[in-house]
Amino acid sequence: MSVDRTPVRAAVFLGAAAGFRVEDLLLDPPCPGEVRVRMLASGVCHSDLHVLDGDWERPAPVAMGHEGAGIVEALGPGVGARAGDPAAGDLVVLAWTAPCGACPACARGEGFLCADPRGGGHRRAPADVRLRRPDGTPVGVYSGIGTMATHQVVAAEAAIRVDPSLPAAEAALLGCAVTTGVGAATRTAGVRAGETVVVVGLGGVGLSAVMGAVLARAARIVAVDRVPAKLELARALGATDAVLAGDGPATRAALLRLLPDGADHALEAIGLASTVELALDVVRPGGTVTLVGMTPQGVRAGVDVYAFVERGIRLLGSNYGSSVPAEVFPELARQAVAGRLPVGRLIDERIGLDDLGPAFEALRRGDGARRVVVFDQAAQ
Ligand SMILES: NC(=O)c1ccc[n+]([C@@H]2O[C@H](COP(=O)([O-])OP(=O)(O)OC[C@H]3O[C@@H](n4cnc5c(N)ncnc54)[C@H](O)[C@@H]3O)[C@@H](O)[C@H]2O)c1
Ligand SMILES: [Zn+2]
Ligand SMILES: [Zn+2]
Repeated sequence: MSVDRTPVRAAVFLGAAAGFRVEDLLLDPPCPGEVRVRMLASGVCHSDLHVLDGDWERPAPVAMGHEGAGIVEALGPGVGARAGDPAAGDLVVLAWTAPCGACPACARGEGFLCADPRGGGHRRAPADVRLRRPDGTPVGVYSGIGTMATHQVVAAEAAIRVDPSLPAAEAALLGCAVTTGVGAATRTAGVRAGETVVVVGLGGVGLSAVMGAVLARAARIVAVDRVPAKLELARALGATDAVLAGDGPATRAALLRLLPDGADHALEAIGLASTVELALDVVRPGGTVTLVGMTPQGVRAGVDVYAFVERGIRLLGSNYGSSVPAEVFPELARQAVAGRLPVGRLIDERIGLDDLGPAFEALRRGDGARRVVVFDQAAQ
């Protein structure tokens, strides 16, 4: 029986030494419980760069990208039977963790820590492969969604319907940076009205943490980056103060001049041991340090244990902003449409799939907040 396959262009990770290449591939129709999505937009997140740089061990070949939005265009058998299932024509944001609903983390309501997410494992198991090269070689799908592709088949649970009036490029950013950063501030750290917050690192994730602190009505929001333009953008988003990061001691001193008693919260959104240690040093006794940035695997950071214990510091890791996508994406989309979450300010440039090389170079330099691949200019 002949199978009706969809032609796809996708950025394919070939291995840390080989980099990536845009390839023409073929996509099988969705199987039971899956949907095919025509991608409209995919953000370029530093986590994609970690993969390219070999910071994290990942399989290859795999279709890259984990921050995207698109339109559902085909339903696999059985999809539509449950409340909340996506329907054809819906604008959906794809979740890089689609909770299984059955493991202990899911039972605790912490689906972002799900032990067995749908489409986990980068869709490399033979039964999960829907994407292939024309010669039949299987191509995996990063985090089950591989958003840097014109089309993708994903688990229905990973396709979260949002308000269709949200521009697709903005919707894409809800899939990672915005949910991660806003959630790190509002959910993981639990910033409350009147508190003081330091955000270290102002990429898409850190700037979203600034937006989260604004939503939580923090009294002072101190933004830190080594790139001056980032400080300006953070101020435009609501940061009250900004510190240009120099060497560690100078940055520490500048922060403690602004907040002599230390901050209620410090969020690290880079993934460097040195800035993790900086964050630990600038919170008040009893303050909370929230780690959002990801290092290469295996990196350790130092803790001055005596001071940490004596000062009663709380240290938290924040995965996906402690957010369950099906609950949080629609709410963030509503906030964005209502003008309370200026997601569009994060987008410096809309690019094509063929411009990804320079986009990764810019990300490496810290130049710009978010570049977004758009697949259909008319829909943006
Ligand atoms: N925890 C999660 O669930 C999660 C989700 C998404 C991304 N991440 C991680 O968050 C981190 C940030 O992602 P992003 O896409 O915003 O990255 P990005 O590269 O856009 O932002 C990093 C920012 O840090 C700044 N910076 C770099 N070194 C600095 C230094 N020494 N001092 C001060 N500023 C410095 C850069 O100028 C840049 O503005 C990455 O490590 C990414 O992998 C984590
Ligand atoms: Zn990401
Ligand atoms: Zn689970």
